[in-house]
Amino acid sequence: MLEEKLIIVTGGAGRIGSAFCRSILENNGKVVICDFSEEKGNSLESQLSDPNVKFIKADITKVKSIKSLINQSVEYFQQPVSSAVHCAYPISDGWGAPFEDLLEENLAKDLFAQLGGAILFSQQMILHFLDSGQGNLINISSIQGIQAPKFEHYEGTNMSSPIEYSAIKSGVISITKYLAKLYKKRNIRVNCISPGGILDGQPESFLKRYEESCNSKGMLDSKDLVGSLLFLLSDQSQFMTGQNIVIDDGWSL
Ligand SMILES: NC(=O)c1ccc[n+]([C@@H]2O[C@H](COP(=O)([O-])OP(=O)(O)OC[C@H]3O[C@@H](n4cnc5c(N)ncnc54)[C@H](O)[C@@H]3O)[C@@H](O)[C@H]2O)c1
Repeated sequence: MLEEKLIIVTGGAGRIGSAFCRSILENNGKVVICDFSEEKGNSLESQLSDPNVKFIKADITKVKSIKSLINQSVEYFQQPVSSAVHCAYPISDGWGAPFEDLLEENLAKDLFAQLGGAILFSQQMILHFLDSGQGNLINISSIQGIQAPKFEHYEGTNMSSPIEYSAIKSGVISITKYLAKLYKKRNIRVNCISPGGILDGQPESFLKRYEESCNSKGMLDSKDLVGSLLFLLSDQSQFMTGQNIVIDDGWSL
């Protein structure tokens, strides 16, 4: 399905990114695992152990580092980057603080790293796509970017969904549409996936309430997102741009 395509996945060693990297390889694509964590990146690269995978350490909040990521990817695989999937999730030490306790410096760091990072990464990828004459960029938002959190699901747990997360994730959908329109007629597509929550050892009481809002499974596994990713990466979605695919088992209904 992805023969000859070179795809960069930022946050590629994370929960969602690693499932994406695996599925790209399984579908005959070439993949660059981009991650800030050398330990996680090296470990995934050796687990996947395939000539079509390469780990490159980069910080997507720094233009110099993004430029170097793109150059190293092109040099290693000797071809332009076909697509990029932005899954990196940089968070400050204060991430997740209740609204009343949110500190100015953490707010500034998180808005910049997550939303600013998505903008800077898009900018550098699009410059590369304009040079090579084609491109396909996929952003990752969240159900928290399309509607208010279901605060009632968190009762009795130490979980929350920060206000800045909602702002950032709506912003990611917004920049997707902006860029898709700005680069119309340039052979560049920009789309977004908004997943529901991913299973990761959350408390039973939360999982039960969450599942009641859903159609069948409730919280998802990362591999449940792969079908939509492959669709957006492939030519099957050739005429889709500026769109946001929500994969949430009906949570938002
Ligand atoms: N996990 C969920 O429930 C869920 C649900 C909906 C949407 N999402 C979104 O999916 C995306 C990925 O989430 P995840 O759960 O896989 O996160 P994760 O924390 O498991 O993975 C994120 C990866 O990003 C890397 N990273 C952090 N800062 C970086 C930087 N500056 N440069 C490069 N890499 C960096 C980390 O090392 C990590 O490997 C995020 O945008 C998140 O908001 C997650």
